[in-house]
Amino acid sequence: MLSVVVLISGSGSNLRALLDAAANPLYPARILAVGSDNPAAGIEHAELHGVPTFVVEPGRFATREAWADALLANIKHFEPDLVVLAGFMKILPPNFVQALSPNLINTHPSLLPEFKGAHAVRDALAAGATRTGVTIHVVDEGVDTGPHLAQAEVQIHPGETEAALHERIKVVERELLVDVVKQFAEAKAQQPA
Ligand code: GAR
Repeated sequence: MLSVVVLISGSGSNLRALLDAAANPLYPARILAVGSDNPAAGIEHAELHGVPTFVVEPGRFATREAWADALLANIKHFEPDLVVLAGFMKILPPNFVQALSPNLINTHPSLLPEFKGAHAVRDALAAGATRTGVTIHVVDEGVDTGPHLAQAEVQIHPGETEAALHERIKVVERELLVDVVKQFAEAKAQQPA
């Protein structure tokens, strides 16, 4: 069984998909805890599933590194096999990434390497793209630069708003994320104990 900590910053619909999947005894991963950098609305999904939560706000720390160390300490308390960034909108410093790599993955709403960063859906529309999508990748020390694990394409409808497009991307994204975490679990199950 793969143990997972999920980090979020927002509404947590990807988190909810993972929690719902993990509620099925046949799904090979369990969500041990959910963390956030703010009192995000999505924390509620963890509470409803009886999963512990923690909030570590950068504003309470003198430096980004000190904040990341505190976030890491909260994660390590649960000793997860995998940490999933599911809409976690803060850039993590190298000390954090190195401590968890390669068992740290991120989901991003574009076909990387196109449209990196915090406004991927807006940027795709502004660029006049006719297709975008989602990428799930291993986190490295760059921003949205790590090795890709899975991608799925979404066509952009003419005149579509950012909100509408992002919602359609998220429908595809949730399914892909649940599948990638399952693949991690299956790979772990094949490793010698
Ligand atoms: C997701 O689309 C995720 O890919 C994106 O935030 C959304 C969170 O949605 N992440 C990024 O843009 C990271 N650069 P959710 O809170 O409903 O899961």
